[in-house]
Amino acid sequence: MAHLHITAWVVALALLMLVLTFSRAGNAKAAKITQMVMRLFYLVILYSGGSLFASYANIGVLVIVKMLVGLWVIAAIEMVAIKVSKGQPASSWWIQLVVSFVLALILGFGFMPLGILPA
Ligand code: HEM
Repeated sequence: MAHLHITAWVVALALLMLVLTFSRAGNAKAAKITQMVMRLFYLVILYSGGSLFASYANIGVLVIVKMLVGLWVIAAIEMVAIKVSKGQPASSWWIQLVVSFVLALILGFGFMPLGILPA
């Protein structure tokens, strides 16, 4: 499940780059379709994260924080895609994306007991 989780957010981030490339190239239709596929990957992230969460015997504060940070990453991905495709300033969402993503990596790989790099 950790592999599915990691694959899902790697794919979602790759799709975000595609959405941005299409938007900047003026191909709104391709951007929209890619954005819809990207949203399906949010569901895979949520499902795999939810399954990892469900396998906890004792739910600590750290895993709750990890989930909130994960949701924050998804919100930031979505907002960057929306702002860029509308041609609006996206820098505050870019900052949030970087901050939340780095936090999710540190928490996920560094401090969490399940997954491929057990802490
Ligand atoms: C794009 C957003 C997300 C990123 C970048 C991310 C990143 C990560 C990383 C790096 C790990 C560690 C995986 C491993 O060691 O194998 C992890 C584990 C986990 N994530 Fe996420 N995640 C995201 C979204 C979410 C969401 C939305 C949820 C909640 C539904 C969630 C819940 C979890 C849980 C419960 C774990 C297992 C922690 C453990 O190993 O004990 N994640 N995530």
